Amino acid sequence: MGISIGPVTLESPVVLAPLSGITDAPFRRIARREGAALVVSEMIASHAVLQATRRQLKERRKMLADHVAEAPVAIQLAGCDPSLMAEAARVAEGAGARLIDINFGCPAKKVVNQYAGSALMADEVTAGRIMAATVAAVSVPVTVKMRLGWRRDQRNAPAIARIAEESGIAMVTVHGRTRDQGYGGSADWAGIRTVREATGLPLLVNGDITSIESARRALAESGADGVMVGRGACGRPWFLAELAAALTGHPLPPAPSAERRCAIATEHYEGLLLHYGRDLAKTLARKHLAWYLQHLQGGDAWRQTLLREENPERVLALLPRVFGLDALPEAA
Ligand SMILES: Cc1cc2nc3c(=O)[nH]c(=O)nc-3n(C[C@H](O)[C@H](O)[C@H](O)COP(=O)(O)O)c2cc1C
Repeated sequence: MGISIGPVTLESPVVLAPLSGITDAPFRRIARREGAALVVSEMIASHAVLQATRRQLKERRKMLADHVAEAPVAIQLAGCDPSLMAEAARVAEGAGARLIDINFGCPAKKVVNQYAGSALMADEVTAGRIMAATVAAVSVPVTVKMRLGWRRDQRNAPAIARIAEESGIAMVTVHGRTRDQGYGGSADWAGIRTVREATGLPLLVNGDITSIESARRALAESGADGVMVGRGACGRPWFLAELAAALTGHPLPPAPSAERRCAIATEHYEGLLLHYGRDLAKTLARKHLAWYLQHLQGGDAWRQTLLREENPERVLALLPRVFGLDALPEAA
């Protein structure tokens, strides 16, 4: 079940979703190795890419380099001005992006109020201009991620998908909720079938895929070619490889041992420390630690100790014990 996005062929139909503040470079590196055929950067505003270009070449290079370390990577851009999006896409391509993804799905007020993200689903003309301008600006494939529509009674994802196809877009991902649903209720995978019927483009189904069983159902109900998984991979990136094996008819990899889970959590924590520096990393890491605990039998008992620990070295020293591997390290 290979998916071809222009010249980029995915080795499995499993893609890691962009989650701002979560699927950063350290997480994406692990997710890629652990089974995601493609990872997508957190959303970057087109004007932010360009301001950085003008202001600080070095900073811009670092920002984009962070996003392309785990090839193949799609850099996701958000914006409402076709020419700025085109220019930002060129910069992203120049920095090594294998694909450019356009965000038409973000429901956050600060994005929607700037008339970007899912707001563009309410304006098909501008959405079309953005897609056409971006496709024309780069030689790498351009993809689009959207919701089912702006409102429950305005599910225009099929119309946008048709415009996408006419504009030269190479793949569409649909999160099975409308903008006004936020993250409430559950994803309507069957609703995505309307997009399947509207376009022959490769299609990914997204939303609430947390098990092999739900992935199979999402694919069957939507008719999509592959799945995009976000929250379902948090605290257990190895789920991506299990999913990839199941969906491609391969035997499931053995469940990761406690040693392996601990090694991945440790690598993740160390990656965050390196990427963000101690102060920011230890705050950002808490939600990841909480997810690792959530997927660990008996993990709850460690919540207070681990999540309240302020000293990163103590956190790292505690992890083997948390995963049931080691005696407590000597007191700091
Ligand atoms: C905290 C958070 C941040 C997100 N950031 C982005 C983003 O930067 N770009 C984007 O297209 N979608 C973003 N999303 C939406 C996800 O990519 C995805 O569509 C949604 O979470 C449903 O998939 P899931 O149930 O597999 O997580 C975000 C979602 C969450 C919960």
